[in-house]
Amino acid sequence: MQPYFDNAATSFPKPQCVIDAMVAYHEKCGASPGRGAYAQAVEATDILDKCRSLLCELVHAPSDSHCIFTLNCTDALNLAINGIASHFQHEETHIVTTAMDHNSVLRPLHALEKQGVAYTVVQACQKTGLVNPSDIAEAITPTTKLVAIAHGSNVTGTVQDIEAIGRVCSNTPLLVDAAQTMGHTAIDMQEMNIALLAFPGHKGLLGPLGTGGLIMQNGIEQIIAPHRFGGTGSASEHPVQPTDLPDKYESGSHNMVGISGLTASLQWIKKQSVQTLHQHEMELCDAFVTGLRNVANVKIIGPQTNANRCGVFSLAFEEKPNIAAQRLEQNSGIRSRAGLHCAPFAHQTMGTTDCGGTVRVSFGPFHSLEDVLYLIDSIERCATPELVTT
Ligand SMILES: Cc1ncc(COP(=O)(O)O)c(C=O)c1O
Repeated sequence: MQPYFDNAATSFPKPQCVIDAMVAYHEKCGASPGRGAYAQAVEATDILDKCRSLLCELVHAPSDSHCIFTLNCTDALNLAINGIASHFQHEETHIVTTAMDHNSVLRPLHALEKQGVAYTVVQACQKTGLVNPSDIAEAITPTTKLVAIAHGSNVTGTVQDIEAIGRVCSNTPLLVDAAQTMGHTAIDMQEMNIALLAFPGHKGLLGPLGTGGLIMQNGIEQIIAPHRFGGTGSASEHPVQPTDLPDKYESGSHNMVGISGLTASLQWIKKQSVQTLHQHEMELCDAFVTGLRNVANVKIIGPQTNANRCGVFSLAFEEKPNIAAQRLEQNSGIRSRAGLHCAPFAHQTMGTTDCGGTVRVSFGPFHSLEDVLYLIDSIERCATPELVTT
């Protein structure tokens, strides 16, 4: 039985090969990439290159050098948003985002507003959380420098139609926050017209915490200022930050323990295929929505079927979410997440702010149908306390 249902925060467990790769890096390599010609430094560089190439292959990105490692998805989103705002600091700048976005987009925008950057929050459907691409088109003005949108909502599991949104962004760079979709569902940067793809390595990609990145289309780097400056192991004779990629954005030593683990998890995902993992997740979703229809006193907030969704579910119980989540853990060992999930406007949209948010459960590739049936049974016992035998 796998009672951990907080994969939207970070995935657990990780494939064994991830742990093995991290231990092997420490035991057999231990060097910093691009910082020496001895065998271990070359090996570390090879791991870094392999990781970039697996990431780019996964999303059909044009060039490995345009895959930038960051601390997490938040760091990648900050690099994209602040980088564009900084490049256009002497021009009128407007950015479009949506009510379903996470604070890792909303807070950088709020901070930039104080520096004169304007932004528009496009509203979403109150039932499904879906954003209408034509509303995004309407929000774009001649001064819009970026459209930033979460592919999958970490509150309702709503998956936006990025291909249609990409079409309305034909003249404006599109930044996609793939925190809840990368590794879960197919992403094609070319077909979807994604200029910038921000991702965590530690959620659907099954790598360790402390990994993430920003993948750029060729040429977009010309309008993204770097957010850190320092040593890159290259062009060391110059005090000026290099302009070639990835060095423009990757100053300082890399998280090689994390990146070794991420390389192994990407190889594991490639072996399974994203399509197979996606199909398994959809089967779990199907069992969950079907089973929960028969449970009284609890409802799913957001998409009620498998259409336009991923394996992230918000649940409304009759009592406060933190009480219900506590009871789920006490009675059944279920690990869920209660509250507003760092996405205040998504809860405003769904009408779940005043009650303190929702209880969120989210699936991972190691969950089985039996785990989902156990979860449904646990939710029923939680929503109907008289069912719990003392
Ligand atoms: C939609 C969304 N965007 C961004 C983030 C931030 O990701 P990270 O924790 O890797 O910074 C999260 C994390 O929960 C998320 O769900």
